[in-house]
Amino acid sequence: MLSKIDANKFHTLIEINSLINSNFRDVHLLLSQIMESATRLSDAEASSLLLMNKERQELYFEVALGSKGKEVQKYTVKLGEGIAGWVALHNKSVIVNDVANDKRHLSNIAQEINYKSKTMIAVPMRIKDECIGVLQVINKKADAEFTQDDIEWLEVFANQAALAVVNTKSMEEADSEIKILQEKLKTTDQGYHTIITKSPVILEKMEIIDRVAKTDSSVLLLGESGVGKELFAEQIHLRSPRSRCAFIRVNCAALPEGLLESELFGHVKGAFTNAISNRQGRFEMADSGTIFLDEIGDLPLSLQAKILRVIQERKFEKVGSDTTVNVNVRIIAATNKDLEEQVKKGQFRGDLYYRLNVLPIFIPPLRQRPEDIPELSRFFLENFMRETKKQFSGFSEDALQTMLSYSWPGNVRELQNCIERACVIGKNKWIEREDLFLKPAQDGEGEITERNLKTAINVFKANFIRKVLEENEWNQTDASRALVIQRTYLSRLIKELKINIPKEL
Ligand SMILES: Nc1ncnc2c1ncn2[C@@H]1O[C@H](COP(=O)(O)OP(=O)(O)O)[C@@H](O)[C@H]1O
Ligand SMILES: [Mg+2]
Repeated sequence: MLSKIDANKFHTLIEINSLINSNFRDVHLLLSQIMESATRLSDAEASSLLLMNKERQELYFEVALGSKGKEVQKYTVKLGEGIAGWVALHNKSVIVNDVANDKRHLSNIAQEINYKSKTMIAVPMRIKDECIGVLQVINKKADAEFTQDDIEWLEVFANQAALAVVNTKSMEEADSEIKILQEKLKTTDQGYHTIITKSPVILEKMEIIDRVAKTDSSVLLLGESGVGKELFAEQIHLRSPRSRCAFIRVNCAALPEGLLESELFGHVKGAFTNAISNRQGRFEMADSGTIFLDEIGDLPLSLQAKILRVIQERKFEKVGSDTTVNVNVRIIAATNKDLEEQVKKGQFRGDLYYRLNVLPIFIPPLRQRPEDIPELSRFFLENFMRETKKQFSGFSEDALQTMLSYSWPGNVRELQNCIERACVIGKNKWIEREDLFLKPAQDGEGEITERNLKTAINVFKANFIRKVLEENEWNQTDASRALVIQRTYLSRLIKELKINIPKEL
């Protein structure tokens, strides 16, 4: 016999289920309703549902109920931080009946909103075993404690919430999400890629990588943009004894100096305006694992000394703190810049360069390994066919020849974009040459045939700007900096000179 309370819970669940199965598309409302029921049925004062932002490796409050619900909503919680962050990281439920003394508790948020959590349960919300969020209920009424029974029920609600998220997306979206998840599950959950290659040069590099992986030395990956440096970094990590621990990626060119420092090393509360809580940096997240410092050539001089110290001593201080943090991290860096040249110009510290350059590995551009072109194009075509639900038998002979004779200044990334576009545009059984939108190498791209000076200057300008844009992966801010012109002027020139920005950007 079910107790009255259990019957009540079942009844609520059935209601939620029928809502999920109906055509109800407002996922926020549905999740709020689930949380309201969960709070009421577990006799809690407050509750929240946090969803994962994978890119930022943090959780945000999708639903927060209780007297301070509104205020809580402005916070985000880093993966691993606080009780919710712990649950998300470990993909495990917890019951905490003495929150104040739990060392995982984020007391600063509690203090700021002036809300005391005494008891709490937090459970992961999963899709296909992957944690996509966390449900927590806080403070059991009448100063009681939460029980194992409460946890089990909350897990049922978490399953419903996950179902709601999946179901309210269109079937297609759900399909592709599951596909992505399956891909990820194959390789672990950190978004690793498969390396496709038939080129002897690359296979040789893979052997080097295999040997390098076993050591703890810093590695410097060199090569043009889009050659796959990040994939090689992944392989070094995956083949190393650290493979079970984190692989943390940081793009040193993506953030302004101040933010980058706190991203890398973390900060303590109050270190600067907006530093509303302590924050773990990427180096700490990578502890026992590997950190990948992409675009190291763009690392501001002011941070270079700090990185050098981490490499030499595995020590640093968070922004705004005097306490030294020790980490055990393997460092892999990558750049498409000529660091030696930068050292000469005083833009890169010599000591850091020599330290990083202990094990340099150069990844050759795609045009120097034509064997990979058919392999990679077939791989990308298959992926995009699945995504677009289109069917092609492959590439026409003409298309393949064009790809083989093209110089691929943007390397594998450009090839990938080119195939994606062809897959969208293509109408025939085969991907045709016209679908690729590639100019054959011999048609004089970049050559100046004009005799009129003004036109010749414009052709030169357009080619030059296009080249710098390509080098900067079409990031106009970076390109304008390299060209030493204003960003607004650059975008005017792009219009005037009719420079085509690749569609996918
Ligand atoms: N050998 C390869 N096999 C499969 N995909 C690749 C390969 N090399 C590069 N890619 C793809 O090309 C793109 C660019 O690779 P990335 O590692 O970011 O280049 P880089 O860091 O050198 O600029 C990525 O989308 C990556 O998945
Ligand atoms: Mg890259």
